Amino acid sequence: MSYPKDFLWGGAVAANQCEGAWKEDGKQPNVTDVMVGIANKNPSIKWNEETNKWEMALDPDKVYLSHEAIDFYHRYKEDLKLMAGMGFKAFRTSIAWGRIFPNGDETQPNEAGLKFYEDMIDTMIELGMEPVITLSHYETPLHLLTEYGGWSNHQLVDFWKRYVTTVFERYKGKVKYWLTFNEVNNMKHMPFVASAILNTNPKDKNDPIGSITEQEKWQAYYNICVANAWTVKICKEIDPKAKVGCMLTSSCVATYPYNCDPDNVFGAYDAQRMSNFYFGDAFCLGIIPGYVKRVWREQNCEPKMCDEELKLIKENTVEFFSLSYYRSSTFEGTVSLGDTGGLIGKENPYLTGCSPEPWRWPIDPKGIRYILNVLYDRYHLPLFIVENGIGLDEAPDQNGEIDDPERMKYVEDHLHYIHEAILDGVEVMGYLYWGPIDIVSAGTGEMRKRYGFVYVDRHNDGSGTMERKIKNSYYRYKEIIETNGECLFNKDK
Ligand code: BG6
Repeated sequence: MSYPKDFLWGGAVAANQCEGAWKEDGKQPNVTDVMVGIANKNPSIKWNEETNKWEMALDPDKVYLSHEAIDFYHRYKEDLKLMAGMGFKAFRTSIAWGRIFPNGDETQPNEAGLKFYEDMIDTMIELGMEPVITLSHYETPLHLLTEYGGWSNHQLVDFWKRYVTTVFERYKGKVKYWLTFNEVNNMKHMPFVASAILNTNPKDKNDPIGSITEQEKWQAYYNICVANAWTVKICKEIDPKAKVGCMLTSSCVATYPYNCDPDNVFGAYDAQRMSNFYFGDAFCLGIIPGYVKRVWREQNCEPKMCDEELKLIKENTVEFFSLSYYRSSTFEGTVSLGDTGGLIGKENPYLTGCSPEPWRWPIDPKGIRYILNVLYDRYHLPLFIVENGIGLDEAPDQNGEIDDPERMKYVEDHLHYIHEAILDGVEVMGYLYWGPIDIVSAGTGEMRKRYGFVYVDRHNDGSGTMERKIKNSYYRYKEIIETNGECLFNKDK
């Protein structure tokens, strides 16, 4: 048995990490435009005592690499050709909400933004790649946070409905796979970016993130569940052939009990629930689970809900589950919430490798088989791996070449265990490598952490020519796709 014949091989990026052009053609700032790395706790916003509102306050000493990123906005045609050169069957990117509705609350969309994505989607199709489009990948317009408090305000549901209706109508028949909220389950430790929340009446005016309350987070959780359900419903009405999936970071599903102490076994299970399933159960099963309600009781939180919307959530669940997987963690007493890669626990003595300094993400290819089985057994939905990859600090050698065998080892080892999961009976729709061209890192906001099969000459200090250069891994990934993974089964061939 091989990989399924219609397996979607390809790669994935996000608008805020590759496009740049942060204020071009009508776009207004989004949440990541005021961050240098989303794991950072200090967004560049300040409290204005006169208006009594938060406002953008960029720090002249910081380099906001995402503002120009890799200039995909102007170079996407040549970049997509490079992706097609590897034989990609699918390419994932996001629509930056703020290109369509610059502040998020307008009633009329911005035609320049709609046209930009239309051309990009058409280019993907012409090049033979299925567009996989994320509706929100850490790109909520900043105005919706400073003015409304973000997703803890129910008004965002209406703004969101307008946005998704607009893009579904415009790209009808062109996009078959839509993803709703990228890694929204990072809400607990990255509330400002992952679930776009801001307290408009902060306790501490110097600490915008620390001022976000548990009540606000859980209200945002509920509102996002409602918005997710609306997305499924609206898409079915406008373009019944398209499918809507959720997108959750699922490295945290590979949280292993450090030993067989029953407290650690249950603790690890609860960590999976409270870092992943809490959203998954709402999106895939249409329920607000009892273990979430227990937390609400214990934290004295009472999100406002209504029966009609709970019914909407129940009736409009997603059609597939898409996920990122980078690493695993262990649970002994506790885990810390970590960064973009997943949770952080005590070092696992059974794992031998990790990504290079300073990131040191543990490498655990067997973990992907584990999480695919766990998620499939829980939701019985097709699973789409839309992020997996390794960030390395690389530069061309004296001959101008970039040799990156570690990257292909990482990919091939993961593909091996994905294949095992397929043999286990798990329906896997495809594999999209994260960052097939070097882009700005989400977690740390730097260029130095490179994931690409294609190198981009841009550096942490903002310098560089933006020239693209193919790395050696490019050819191996191409071969894997060309043979539908067959070349992995007999490496001597
Ligand atoms: C995922 C995000 O969490 O991890 C991506 O969806 C991100 O946006 C990726 O880039 C890798 O994380 P990082 O911090 O290495 O860029």
